[in-house]
Parts: sequence; structure tokens; C-alpha cells
Amino acid sequence: DAVIREELGSLHGMPFHKSFMEGWPQVEAFQARPDDLLIATYPKSGTTWLSEILDMIYHDGDVEKCRRDVIYNRVPFLEMKVPGMLSGVEQLEKTPSPRLVKTHLPIHLLPTSFQDKGCKVIYMARNPKDVVISYYYFYQMAKLHPDPGTLAEFLETFLAGKAAYGSWYEHVRGWWDKRQEKWLLYLFYEDMKKDPQREVRKILQFLGREVSEGTVARILHHTSFQEMKKNPAANYETIPTSMMDHNLSPFLRKGISGDWKNHFTVAQNERFDEHYRQHMAGSDLVFQMEV
Ligand code: PPS
Repeated sequence: DAVIREELGSLHGMPFHKSFMEGWPQVEAFQARPDDLLIATYPKSGTTWLSEILDMIYHDGDVEKCRRDVIYNRVPFLEMKVPGMLSGVEQLEKTPSPRLVKTHLPIHLLPTSFQDKGCKVIYMARNPKDVVISYYYFYQMAKLHPDPGTLAEFLETFLAGKAAYGSWYEHVRGWWDKRQEKWLLYLFYEDMKKDPQREVRKILQFLGREVSEGTVARILHHTSFQEMKKNPAANYETIPTSMMDHNLSPFLRKGISGDWKNHFTVAQNERFDEHYRQHMAGSDLVFQMEV
């Protein structure tokens, strides 16, 4: 109960769940293994989708094996810590290699061990207008977050970098600065929507894996929004309602690009565009606001 609707704390200036902060020393000291694969995202950018795709790749497209457990156990969430549950670090210590690891950390807060051990990282970014809408619904259903208020209020929270994990701009730009490194693959949610087959091939190439055409087709089918939405191992419905209330909003909500158009007023969109222009100035990182 203590974590329900708790205000956020601050981790080196980044808004962060207070319960997660208690586990921070263990996260900082985390011992990565060379064959760990890290899935890094700003929240609501396609983490679960990418996680399911990677678990399918790791199991050669075997759907039954990917139903062996729920997604948050198959791909532990590094910095997660809530009372009464194994923390992400504790879960990872028990996970056999090769491990898939989920994080929402910005690159400057990533535990050093991942780079020391030469781990590969796949980053997925999503356009901020869809992120803020998805995050707004997630704040409502996932009670670990403070009350988001109205959408107008939450937009200001997000633009001010006061939502959990802080500034979206710093996050996507921080990781983008490393996109040339051979250990990093930088992907976009919108590209995955447009041409999932091409993106899955990119992932396979990055991992140095080969799978048959049939396996790729199975991966694409199993990880489609419709399939994941009805899959209890992927849709988070196994989390108690006291923590995540799917009646308020399902975790797999719409899964489209451009839903912000159904939510923003013209004025909000203009304000957002101006803020975006200022905060992305000087960057060659480009987002597709719809597909
Ligand atoms: S979290 O809580 O930060 O880990 O959430 P995350 O998984 O990053 O993002 C959730 C959004 O991703 C959408 N999603 C998908 N879209 C398309 N296809 C598939 N298969 C898929 N799986 C998850 C999910 O619906 C959330 O976006 P919205 O816009 O809210 O629907």
C-alpha cells in the first residue's frame, strides 16, 4: 500500500519512484554478464513489444516456450523494486544466461558494468506526442505513479521533465549520441509499426543470428498488437488490480502511431511543437509523429 500513488523522489536530479530509489545501490553495483542483452527505452516507447520479439528470437520462434512465464519475469526490469517482491536485480541474479534485461534508465545513469562487459544494447524510441498520451493513461492505471491530474496538467509535467524518468529529450538524445557504437542498435517504434519484418531483420543482424523465413513470420504474428493483447504472458493482466487497474486503461491500450491527434487541442499541439523545436535544436534525431 505504501507505494500506491506515492509522490516521486529524485535520483541525481531525475524524477524516480521512491521505492525504486531504495534499491539503487544494488542497481549501481549490478554485475552484468557479457552475453546480457539490454533493452533500453524511455517509458511507453515499445519496451514490452521489443521484449516479446527478443524472447521469441532467443527461443527460435517457439510460442509455447515464450508462454513459460509472464513478460516481467522473462525480461526482468533492472531498477524495479517494490516492497514484498523480488527486485529486478534479485530476479536477474537467478536468471540463467543469456539474459534479456529491461531498463528505462537514461544512458548517463546506466550501471557501468554493461559497458565494462561489452554488452549489446537495443534502444527503442517513440515520438513524444504518442509517448505522453500513452504515459498519461499508464499513470492512471499503474498505481505506482502519482495521480497525473488532467491531460493538460500531465502535458506540462511531461514537458517540464517531471514525469518518472525525467526529460524525454535528454533520454532519446543521450542514447542517440552513442548510436554509432557497435554495441548499440537504435530503433524507432514508428519504424516497427511501418515495417516490422525489416526491423526484426535488423535485430537479427545486430545479434548475429539467423532464423528461417517461417520463424520470422511466426515472430511477427505472435508479437502483433492483437496477439499480445490477448496473451496473459505479455499483457500484464496478471499484476494485481491494486497495482495495475486494466479497467481504467489496459496496458496494451491502442498500439498505434498518431493517437495524440485524438487528444491534443490545436493550442496544445502548437505549444508542444514549439517546445520540441527548442529542445531538439541542433540534433539530427528525427521523429515521425504519425505513420
Ligand atoms: S512500459 O510500461 O514503459 O514498459 O511500456 P512500454 O511497453 O514501453 O509501452 C507500452 C506501449 O506500447 C504499446 N505496445 C504495442 N504497440 C504495438 N504493437 C505491439 N505489439 C505492442 N505492445 C505494446 C502499448 O499498447 C503501449 O502504447 P499505447 O499507445 O498506450 O497503446
